[in-house]
Amino acid sequence: MTAGRAAVVCGIGAALPPDVVPNADLTARLDTTDEWIRSRTGIAQRHVAGPDLSTTDLAAQAAADALATGEPATAQALVVATTTPDRCCPATAPAVATRLGLTGIPAHDLAAGCTGFLYALATAAGLIAADTARTVLVVGVDRLATLPDPADRTTVPLFGDGAAAVLLRRGSTDEAGALGPIVLGSDGTGAELIRADRPGALHMDGADVFRQAVDRMSTASRQAATAAGWDLADVDRLAPHQANSRITAFVARQLGVAADRQLGNIAETGNTGAASIPLLLARSAADGRLHPGHRTLLTAFGAGLTWGATTLTWPDLCPVRLPEGTAHDR
Ligand code: UT7
Repeated sequence: MTAGRAAVVCGIGAALPPDVVPNADLTARLDTTDEWIRSRTGIAQRHVAGPDLSTTDLAAQAAADALATGEPATAQALVVATTTPDRCCPATAPAVATRLGLTGIPAHDLAAGCTGFLYALATAAGLIAADTARTVLVVGVDRLATLPDPADRTTVPLFGDGAAAVLLRRGSTDEAGALGPIVLGSDGTGAELIRADRPGALHMDGADVFRQAVDRMSTASRQAATAAGWDLADVDRLAPHQANSRITAFVARQLGVAADRQLGNIAETGNTGAASIPLLLARSAADGRLHPGHRTLLTAFGAGLTWGATTLTWPDLCPVRLPEGTAHDR
C-alpha cells in the first residue's frame, strides 16, 4: 500500500443488547454449572437480543456511534461483516446506510465467521486503495445466541449478541491508527467443524476447533507482525477474537505476550462473532487498558474455517461511549 492510501482508524462505536443472561440463568435450564462455564471458557454472562432488536438495529447503533466519534464524521462506503443477517436477501448494509442518512453509498455484507471483522477491514482498505471511497465504515455484528439448539449445553453458554464498528479514512502508513498488512486465510476442509444449516441447529466440534484456533491465530499473528516489521516483543496489546479465554491464553503463550498485555472481555460478552474484536477494542479503549500509542495485534479464527491477523498502533480517538449494561460482573 503506498503512502497516502493507507486505511486509518479514526472512529469507533459499539452496541450491546440491554438484556444480560448470567450463567446462573443457564444452570437453571441446562445440565451445566457456573463453575464449568467459567473455568472452561472464561464466560460469566452474555448479552442476548430480544425479538425486537435485529442485526440491522445493532449494526446501525454501533455504526452511528463510530460516525459520531469519527474525524471526519462521515462515510463514503459501508461494509457489514455478519454470519447472522436478519434475512437471506437483501443484505444488511444498505439498510444500515439508509438509517445513517447515507443512502447511495456503496454498501455490502460479507460472511467469514468470527474472522469477519478482519476480512471487512481488508475489504475497506481495498476500497480506499482503489479510490472508491476516502472513508469507510466497517461493522462487525452477530446474533450468535440464535444459532445453538436451546437444549445443547455444549454450545448455548458460549455465544452472545452484539455489534461494533470502526470508521476508516484514507491516510498514511506511518500514522497512528494505520492498518498494517492484513493476513487472511481459509480452509474449507474444516467446513463441518462449525456449521449451522439454520438457526437453532449449530454443530461444533469444540476440541478440534480449539486446537486449530490456537494454531491458526498464532501463525497468522506471527505473519502479520513480520509483515508489519514488528518484533513480537514490541507488541503492547494482543486483541484476539474472544471465543474462549483458554484459547487466547494459549495463543498469547505461543507468541510470548505477557498476561498484562492481553486484552479480554469474554467474561461479559461471550463469543460475539464478527463483533468480537471491535467490541474488545471499544471496551478496552473506554476502560483505559488500551492507550493511544499501544502497538496492537489483532487476530481471529472462525467458521469456514477462516482466520486472520493485522496490526495497528492505537490512535487517539474521541472517548468511546460504552454500551449500556457492560460495567458489571468484571
Ligand atoms: O469462534 C470460533 C469458534 N468457536 C471456538 O473457538 C470454540 C472452541 N472450543 C472451545 O471453546 C471448547 O472446546 C469448548 C468450550 C466448546 C469445550 O471445552 P473442552 O474443554 O474442549 O470440553 P470438551 O468438549 O472436551 O468436553 C469435556 C466434557 C464432556 O464430558 P465427558 O464427555 O468428558 O463426560 C462434555 O460433555 O465437558 C462436558 N461439557 C459440559 N459439562 C458441563 C460440555 N459442555 C458442558 C457444559 N457444562 N456446558
